[in-house]
Amino acid sequence: MLNTLQIKDVFVKINKTILLEDVNLSLQKGDLNIIIGPNGAGKSTLLKAIVKILDIQKGDILLNNKSFKEQNINEVSSQIAYMAQSNEKSNLNVIDVLELSRRKYSGFILSKTDYILIENIIKEFGLEKFLNKNIDMLSGGERQKVFLAAAIIQEPKVLILDEPISHLDPKNQIEMLDIIKRKTKEENFICITVLHDLQNALHYGNKIIMLKNKKIINFQKSEDINSQMLSSLYDIPCKLFWEDGHPFLFLGHQHSNTKTYQHSHKK
Ligand SMILES: Nc1ncnc2c1ncn2[C@@H]1O[C@H](COP(=O)(O)OP(=O)(O)OP(=O)(O)O)[C@@H](O)[C@H]1O
Ligand SMILES: [Mg+2]
Repeated sequence: MLNTLQIKDVFVKINKTILLEDVNLSLQKGDLNIIIGPNGAGKSTLLKAIVKILDIQKGDILLNNKSFKEQNINEVSSQIAYMAQSNEKSNLNVIDVLELSRRKYSGFILSKTDYILIENIIKEFGLEKFLNKNIDMLSGGERQKVFLAAAIIQEPKVLILDEPISHLDPKNQIEMLDIIKRKTKEENFICITVLHDLQNALHYGNKIIMLKNKKIINFQKSEDINSQMLSSLYDIPCKLFWEDGHPFLFLGHQHSNTKTYQHSHKK
């Protein structure tokens, strides 16, 4: 199928440990797909399998009908931008990180278009004051913004982000999620993002992928997610209701005077 990333019967094993089994997904261009699920479920493993950092033992991954099996890691990474859960230390300045992510396509000498792209993303992400700072000298949140900007200017067909807002304050979280959602639509790529923040996941995601114990247990439009699905994903009580297109979520213990909310849908 065109315009899709297809993940077919993917099975991943390292040494004797099975990390993923029977993973099937068909993801469409322009959709922000958010993976949620408990720690250790296999979320990062799935992202690493898609970008070929990890080998898959069974199954296949295809972008626009072309199997990744026939492509090496460089060919795959020319189509996919990936931001890891935690970034390794590096000795680079912020501007170097941004330029590097264009060099992957343009070679050592960057074009005028590359510099325009870099200039625009610097403004969009408010990175002006960090440009000549070493990446290791930034705060965790500042670093996340730089790596997110670097992933987006690669102009990928698939953007893969592993917990991209985990170190950001609430204002930066919604600013980054707004950018991710808008770029996914405007540039019409496929975005796959892991988030632990369920409120944001439901609010921003077009589709929600629930991963538990090595398997996908649910793949739905975010507005079709209900309390039971989240309760059984995390094995905790959960109450979810929607108001004016915003999800409201209570996790954990219930109060004896809890109001019973009508289940309403995302508008
Ligand atoms: N290289 C590896 N070798 C063996 N086991 C691994 C390897 N990498 C991860 N695992 C195990 O696979 C399981 C899934 O790990 P993964 O990193 O995919 O979880 P996750 O869903 O991303 O969790 P978190 O929410 O904590 O980031 C874990 O139990 C982990 O210990
Ligand atoms: Mg992870």
